[in-house]
Amino acid sequence: MTVTIVGSQLGDEGKGALVDLWGGDADVVARYQGGDNAGHTVVEGGDEYKLSLVPSGAVRDKVGVLGNGCVVNPKTLFSEIDELRERGLDPDVRVARRAHVIMPYHRVLDGIEEDAKSDSDLDAGTTGRGIGPTYEDKAGRRGIRVGDLLDPEVLRDRLEYVVPQKRALAEDVFGVEAGEAFDVDAVFEEYTEIGERLRDESMTVNAGEFLGSHLDDGDDVLFEGAQGTSIDIDHGIYPYVTSSNPTAGGAATGTGIGPTVVGRGEVVGIVKAYLSRVGTGPLPTELTGDDEELADSIREKGGEFGTVTGRPRRIGWLDIPMLRHAARANGFTGIAVNHIDVLAGLDEVKVGHSYDLDGEERFTMPATTERWGRCEPNLREFEPWNDVDWMAVAEEGYDAIPDNAQAYLEYVSAEVDAPIYAIGVGPDRAETIELANPFDE
Ligand code: IMP
Repeated sequence: MTVTIVGSQLGDEGKGALVDLWGGDADVVARYQGGDNAGHTVVEGGDEYKLSLVPSGAVRDKVGVLGNGCVVNPKTLFSEIDELRERGLDPDVRVARRAHVIMPYHRVLDGIEEDAKSDSDLDAGTTGRGIGPTYEDKAGRRGIRVGDLLDPEVLRDRLEYVVPQKRALAEDVFGVEAGEAFDVDAVFEEYTEIGERLRDESMTVNAGEFLGSHLDDGDDVLFEGAQGTSIDIDHGIYPYVTSSNPTAGGAATGTGIGPTVVGRGEVVGIVKAYLSRVGTGPLPTELTGDDEELADSIREKGGEFGTVTGRPRRIGWLDIPMLRHAARANGFTGIAVNHIDVLAGLDEVKVGHSYDLDGEERFTMPATTERWGRCEPNLREFEPWNDVDWMAVAEEGYDAIPDNAQAYLEYVSAEVDAPIYAIGVGPDRAETIELANPFDE
């Protein structure tokens, strides 16, 4: 069977902890979208591994797959694999031949375009990894796929078509001097070598066939979503979004496994007990002004600094209309709620229960970001809960969670109409209370 793990909010919901927990019961862990914009930390045997591309299951002897819906920076891929090897692991990572390659010019163009947009507040605050420009070329049918790196003739043809266009874009449209990243010969040489390594290490696969044959053999597959529903290119707060589909449908299109198969499995939404946002754009429940100190303390306690970029994250109360939207877009069969320990000890705990927009109460997000930015949250107040020994709570289980925190969790579960499978009460791997294992459901 399959279990799909999806971010319900704006990314950084703590998906890694659950992927780590349930990935242990899977045979294969596959990513279906995004690239090295997704930071995740895995702690194994006291050692910490920071990964941005390699699926976290690869640290735990699982087969890790980067599906066709991913965009792959092979340099990041190799450096993460090399580091894991230096640290004594033997990661088994396979890359879809249909996945698109992040080329050097994509990364440069990401920075150039963000700069150009910043004058008009349209910059998305990207991670600068070249994600958007690579998906643009995919849709524009001028991308380079992983399979193309294995065939120097095809690669040369593709580069000769695309690189001069990118050079002209950098120089003539943006007025920036194009460097080596825009030189056909230099790029060709470097990327044929990358292709050779991919071939020598037998890393490339037809992802759909590879995953399909594992499923046919009765293996369990975990689909690891990156980012979150509200920064999905279709269902998110466009244009402040990433360029792929983190939502559950992406698990089908981004791997080559049909939606009926994904839908027969479980789809678990990961919820952070409050909001954090690394990029730009509106955020109706954001803690600003008089609430800045509160935001600072949540940020510090929750370690809310970007894993990939190190940027401090913006903080807000939980946004329930956002979660209702996510529950519908993904079809959650269950949820996991993280970081309830971070809200412990506060004088007040609130959630945005609904919005007021133009005098009307609304229970889900409007479809345009401009209207979302005009939404005033109707805040609902919860009785706060004290800080406790969360490790002891994790050992004892759900009943040891303070009553007021339980009331909060039960409210969230009712609003998204999905049962709670797990609760995160601290950053340590052992600090997750599991109520149900989706592979057993
Ligand atoms: P990109 O994915 O680098 O193109 O960035 C587009 C938007 O998605 C920006 O607002 C980023 O901050 C956001 N973003 C991308 N990856 C993540 C992530 O892993 N967590 C949270 N936000 C992300």
